[in-house]
Amino acid sequence: MCGIVGYIGDRPAADVLLRGLQRLEYRGYDSAGIAVVNGNLSVHKRQGKVNDLKAALSNVAVEGTLGIGHTRWATHGFPSDRNAHPHTSSSGDFAIVHNGIIENYGALRERLTEEGYTFTSQTDTEVLVHLIDKLRKDNGLSLEEAIRQALRVVVGTYGIAVVSSEDPDLLIAARKGSPLILGVGEGEFFLGSDAAPLVEYTRQVVYLNDGEMVVIRRGGFEVRTIDNVPLEKEVHELEWDLEQIEKGGYEHFMLKEIMEQPTSLENCMRGRIRLSENALRLGGLIDVMDQLRSARRIIIAACGTSWHAALVGEYLIEAFARIPVEVEYASEFRYRNPVLVEGDVVLVISQSGETADTLAAIRAAKRRGIPVYGVCNTVGSTIARDTDAGVYLHAGPEIGVASTKAFTAQVTVLAMIALKLAEGRTITEAEMAHYLRAMAEIPEKVRQVLELDDQIKQIAQVYRYASNFLYLGRGYNFPVALEGALKLKEISYIHAEGYPAAEMKHGPIALIDQFMPVVFIAMKDSTYDKVITNIEEVAARKGSVIAITDHGNGELDRLCEYVIRIPATEEFLSPLLTVVPLQLLSYHIAVMRGCNVDQPRNLAKSVTVE
Ligand code: AGP
Repeated sequence: MCGIVGYIGDRPAADVLLRGLQRLEYRGYDSAGIAVVNGNLSVHKRQGKVNDLKAALSNVAVEGTLGIGHTRWATHGFPSDRNAHPHTSSSGDFAIVHNGIIENYGALRERLTEEGYTFTSQTDTEVLVHLIDKLRKDNGLSLEEAIRQALRVVVGTYGIAVVSSEDPDLLIAARKGSPLILGVGEGEFFLGSDAAPLVEYTRQVVYLNDGEMVVIRRGGFEVRTIDNVPLEKEVHELEWDLEQIEKGGYEHFMLKEIMEQPTSLENCMRGRIRLSENALRLGGLIDVMDQLRSARRIIIAACGTSWHAALVGEYLIEAFARIPVEVEYASEFRYRNPVLVEGDVVLVISQSGETADTLAAIRAAKRRGIPVYGVCNTVGSTIARDTDAGVYLHAGPEIGVASTKAFTAQVTVLAMIALKLAEGRTITEAEMAHYLRAMAEIPEKVRQVLELDDQIKQIAQVYRYASNFLYLGRGYNFPVALEGALKLKEISYIHAEGYPAAEMKHGPIALIDQFMPVVFIAMKDSTYDKVITNIEEVAARKGSVIAITDHGNGELDRLCEYVIRIPATEEFLSPLLTVVPLQLLSYHIAVMRGCNVDQPRNLAKSVTVE
């Protein structure tokens, strides 16, 4: 959940590092710091955002063309200057930045303290610094070998970068459980927790895997395992470009990504839905489609918004392919010793491809011999590489912490998987043709929903001071109700809950009064009449109802404070349209409340810690 960068070449390292940290700030923004080598080690770090660090350095000349940087999401030790990274050895001759958690740091800290090491921070990272220092001095090891030995001692996760004042042509990095990418330039190299800080300089990248360490000099790099086994690594071409990383004129990444959804959904379906051939092609699953079709049960594991998409996937796959599906929070699945038997298949969903709990769910399934497939947005991410097969979203980089276009792309991929599993078995060719045409129409319909932005902004004006919200939906739109509630609470800090609409009478209806805004998803589908009944129950108790519907009749106008009318579509595709007003409503309320929409408090884009 932190962001780390590194640079070695002939540019001013401080500029490269600070720009890179700004592109990684969505991963954590409690504190930031850099360490630059120029004869000595010049370390500058402080609590706050990267801009605060930049301001502090505006009158400071930080010379040097080798360095590392860090933007922090606090795990051990509250945000402060002292706990900010980089952390330096006692002698101040080398510095380290770390993303991850060292689980045995307590015992190590105790042992190192007994041996005379003094700690200036409360972080687990500082333990690693002193351990490297100790191993180097006690055994006369090179820095590289001391790091290798230290990483064999620590338990937990790490993505680290290390520089030393003793060698101006040496940048070392290693990873286990936290992402790290090497950017390959002309006589220069870049490190990043993901591709965002690299893409403006190079699109040639090397993905490091767990247990690998890279030693970088201006003339080249060498990758070995932590056990010192040399490795040949392939250089890949990044799909992203700089324009995709920038805000593109929008005030926030989140708004840009909401507005991008027609395009991201077109990209998600491109080459996969082929109307002229009435064909649906998921290249990443071709080799395992039979295994999926014959699955005794499909278990979908994910977190947060991706878990909401998984719930839609359950309804889709069971409705179309009649294969039993169970949805699990990855964080629960990994610890509860689930019963998995031959014929089970696990599907994981992750935008970042680095979520620690989801990664652990993969390993829990693989330990039991269960095949694991992935639905992921980040090419080359750990989840993409740890799964046996999968489907990329092709939604483009999602920078805003609140997931939006990834959700609609995930639901789209799950709909394609459901139809693919049903093909030739539980649906006819004519039905497939009809469903594929309906899917192909979705991007234009999302564009129509986005045109309601002004109406939704006005509604946000009315409800921006609310303290609580309820979101209610049925069927395919029950998970959308959950997603709408999550969007609102995570960026506006208003408490919000999502429920199946029918569940309200089993408790939540006690909350209804004139101060409780209730958002209903009331599409004219198989559950519409029941939803109307629920709306009447809320209206009878003076609840303030906002309805999302495709229905034109006056019934809803009579019952609701506000009605947001969106285009109609097939029931199974309605989440792709009903979620968009909820994304916009949460965005506008959060902006009106002065919240930091792209970097909400306490959150980070990729939860790489457990
Ligand atoms: C959603 O808006 C949040 N950012 C969060 O719940 C996120 O969906 C969750 O952490 C899972 O992330 P992933 O899809 O990258 O695995």
